[in-house]
Amino acid sequence: MADAPAVNVVKDFDSLGDFEKKHTPFITLEPSGDRTLVNIEVGHLVPHPQGADHFIGWIELLANGSPIVRFDLSPDVTFPRFCVPVVLPAGTVLRAIESCNLHGLWAYEATI
Ligand SMILES: [Fe+2]
Repeated sequence: MADAPAVNVVKDFDSLGDFEKKHTPFITLEPSGDRTLVNIEVGHLVPHPQGADHFIGWIELLANGSPIVRFDLSPDVTFPRFCVPVVLPAGTVLRAIESCNLHGLWAYEATI
């Protein structure tokens, strides 16, 4: 059985250099009643390329370790950003993981 690919898990977004900022899926949360709008953007402060040679291929969101939504992205015609409403209890740990075709997997977490 092959080992799972390593994920670069970023803990402190503010301390990152430009390379890490370019790849980390930045998360913001907007509570609204029993829902939370989850906004995820790769390249929030330092834009990441999205062309044929270098691009974000997918972004996945996990809740307490279980996948709940995944976006597959085509280069040239998409931007690595999405928002999705969720209904999850306070304390749920959200993890966004993105895949760069050249630089691997990057993750960031936020708690509802
Ligand atoms: Fe990259």
